[in-house]
Amino acid sequence: IEAMLSDGPLKGVKAIVTSGPTHEAIDPVRFIANRSSGKQGHAIASALAAMGAEVTLVSGPVSLADPAGMTVVRVESALQMLNAVRQRLPADLVVCAAAVADWTVANRASEKRKKKAGDPPPTIQLAPNPDILMTVSKAEAPLRPRLVVGFAAETEKLMEHAADKLARKGCDWIVANDVSEGSGTFGGDANTVHIIDGTGTESWPAMSKDDVARNLAERITKALGKA
Ligand code: CTP
Ligand code: CA
Repeated sequence: IEAMLSDGPLKGVKAIVTSGPTHEAIDPVRFIANRSSGKQGHAIASALAAMGAEVTLVSGPVSLADPAGMTVVRVESALQMLNAVRQRLPADLVVCAAAVADWTVANRASEKRKKKAGDPPPTIQLAPNPDILMTVSKAEAPLRPRLVVGFAAETEKLMEHAADKLARKGCDWIVANDVSEGSGTFGGDANTVHIIDGTGTESWPAMSKDDVARNLAERITKALGKA
């Protein structure tokens, strides 16, 4: 199987995919996290590997099995995710599908916080996390990948926020999806996405996360001139 896979159109293409949430520790037993199953990111990593890419999947804590045919690096926090991605640059392609926590806990306790009767609840102080997608997109050559793809999960004004992210972060494409209540995206197997690049928007019909991944891998293959 390995030999078959490595013969795909993405043979020789080095790809890094981030997936899942990050966990930011409050103390040894508690954390802040984003809502993410990792299904879409893992599916993209698998689709790229199936087309022959040399894939490193950098995953936050998920309940999914490590997909076959790639290197999987498991991390907890956003800082660990950034370091894992950085270590593996240069790459031809980076897809940031992870739901990275925007803030980490500045006053993380080294021991479990205990509650005492009458005490006010503790205050959690937040500090900004690094932006992995922006760091990769704005890296200087030769570390800047040929293609950097980000996601925008929004609950309102989807296209407006997604276009803003494309411009602000400096990535090449944004995969925008509606995660408002009732969209069924979170934890589900289906997804409705729009691909925004410098030239416009392509809206795809609702399809399984596996099909989104396969279609995205095909679009990437064409963009890298490998089709
Ligand atoms: N992202 C990242 N590192 C971060 C935050 C986000 O790599 N610290 C990436 C995500 O993986 C995704 C894209 O940036 O590909 C957009 O994430 P999102 O949370 O939608 O964007 P933010 O800029 O954090 O904006 P906001 O949460 O305020 O909507
Ligand atoms: Ca965010």
